[in-house]
Amino acid sequence: MNILFAASEAFPYAKSGGLADIMHSLPKSLAEADHKVSVVIPYYPQIMGELCGKLKVRYDQFDVQLGDTLERTRIHEDRINKNLTYYFVEYNRFYDRPKLYDWAGEEYADNAERYIFLCRATMDLAIALNLDLDILHTNDWHTSLCNVYLKSNIYSDNATFAKCKSVITIHNIGYQGIFDKANLYWTGLGWEYFNHTCLEYNDCLNFLNAGILTADMVSTVSPTYAKEILTPEFAFNLEGSLGHVAARNKLKGIINCIDTYEWNSEIDPLIPANYTLKSLAGKKKCKKALQKQFGLPQKAKTPVFGIVSRLATQKGIDVFCDAIWSMLEEDDCQFVILGSGEQWLHDRLDFLAKSFPKKIGVYIGYDNKLAHMIEAGVDMFVMPSRYEPCGLNQMYSMRYGTVPVVRATGGLEDTVENYDPNTVDSSTGFKFNLLTVDALLNTLRWAEAIYATRPDHFSKIMANGMKQDFSAKHMAKEYEQMYLEI
Ligand code: ADP
Ligand code: GLC
Repeated sequence: MNILFAASEAFPYAKSGGLADIMHSLPKSLAEADHKVSVVIPYYPQIMGELCGKLKVRYDQFDVQLGDTLERTRIHEDRINKNLTYYFVEYNRFYDRPKLYDWAGEEYADNAERYIFLCRATMDLAIALNLDLDILHTNDWHTSLCNVYLKSNIYSDNATFAKCKSVITIHNIGYQGIFDKANLYWTGLGWEYFNHTCLEYNDCLNFLNAGILTADMVSTVSPTYAKEILTPEFAFNLEGSLGHVAARNKLKGIINCIDTYEWNSEIDPLIPANYTLKSLAGKKKCKKALQKQFGLPQKAKTPVFGIVSRLATQKGIDVFCDAIWSMLEEDDCQFVILGSGEQWLHDRLDFLAKSFPKKIGVYIGYDNKLAHMIEAGVDMFVMPSRYEPCGLNQMYSMRYGTVPVVRATGGLEDTVENYDPNTVDSSTGFKFNLLTVDALLNTLRWAEAIYATRPDHFSKIMANGMKQDFSAKHMAKEYEQMYLEI
C-alpha cells in the first residue's frame, strides 16, 4: 500500500512525547513490511538542530494556500530507504520557534493557522509527489483537518486521492484543537463545513472532532483507552461523536509498540553500561552512575524510583508529590525525576528536591540521553496517570529490567500484569485503580516491600518484563489489517 502519515512531530527530528516515537516506529515497520510510506511534519529549525544538515531540498519553491494568499515554502526530505521518506515543510514564520506548541506556559496564539497550514501543505505535497495514495493517516488534532480536506470540494476530485481512504489515530483526546470560528478563513473551506457533522462544536472549531467524524476509520492507541473514550469521564466531551463512530464499527484500539532497537539495554549507547537478562551487572553500574549524577548517596540496596514525563495534569504528578512526602521522611528510598511542562508542577518537584536533597533528584528539561539513563538506572518506574492512552515508558522500563508501578488505566492496564504472589510467573509490575494519595502511597510501599523482602519475586517480575515482546512489527500488522479493512 501507499501510505502517507501526517503529524506534528516525529523522532528523532522533533519530539515532545510518545507521538514522536510512534511516528518513528510505525512508518519504519510498515516500510519493512514492504509498504511505500511517506511522513510529513513541519521543518522546525531550532528544534531539529544539526539534523537539518542531513536533509535534502526536494522543492525549493512550493506554494501553499493560506486563506486567500499563496505562501511560499520549501520542502525538504530525508530518504531513509526505498520504502520510507520523511518530508518537512519549511515555513519559518510558523515553525522556527524554540518549542513545538507553546512558550512560557502559553500556547502559541497562531496554533490554528500553524497546523491548518501543515494540513494544506500535506495535501498539496501528496499531489505534487504524485503519491497515488491508498491511505492517508493523520494523528491527533494537528493534522486531522487532512481527513476533512480529503472529502472536501478542494481535494476530493483529485486523481491522487481517487482511491484514498483516511484514518485518524487519537493519541490523546485531551488536546482537541478548539479555536475561534474566525479561523475557518485560513482553511479555505466554506461555512457549509461549519456544522455539527464536521468542524463546528459549541460554536467553535474543533479539529479533532471534525477528523473523527470525517475519517473512514478512527483508531486509538490501546484497547482499554478505546473503551474509556466512550465515557464522559475520559472523552473530554467527545463521547457522542465517538459513540456514533463506534456504533458503525469504525473505532479500533491498537496497542502501541516500541522501537526495540532504540530502546535496548544490550546495545544502548546512551547508558553507562550495557546489560542483558542473563548478565545484569551493567544495570547495577547504571544505578550507581545515576545516583552519582543526581547527587544521591550511591547505595546499591536502596530502591530507586524514577519518572520521565511531560509534566502535565494528565500524568498525576501532583498526586505523586503528595504521596511520596511520607516516604521521603520515613523510608530508605530514592527518587529520580526528569520532566518538563507546567510551571506549578516544576515548582512542586523543585520544592521536594530542596527539602530532601539526599533522597530526590529532579532535572527540569527535555533530555533524551537522561531518559535512557533513568530507564536503565532505576529499580522501579512510576506512572500515576489520570488517563494514559497508551504510555510508552512502562514498556521501555520493562525492557530495561525496571519494574513499572502504574495506575490501571488505558494502555497501562493493557501492558502491565499486576503482581500477585500466586501468579508471579506472569507478573510484570504493580498496579492500583483509584488515583488517590493513599492508593499510590500504598502501592509504592508495596513495591518497596517486595523489593526488600522478596528479592526472588522481585527478580522474577524484572525478568518477566525483560522477556516481553513489544516489538513494532506486531503494531504494524494490526494497522495493516485495519488499512485492508477500509
Ligand atoms: P506522552 O506521549 O503522553 O508524553 P508516552 O509515555 O507515550 O507519554 O511517551 C513519552 C515519551 O517522551 C517517552 O519516550 C519519554 O521517554 C519521552 N519524554 C517525556 N518527557 C521527557 C523529557 N523531559 N526528556 C526526555 N524524554 C522525555
Ligand atoms: C500520547 C499519550 C500516550 C501515548 C502517546 C503515543 O501522547 O499521552 O499515552 O503513548 O500519545 O501514542
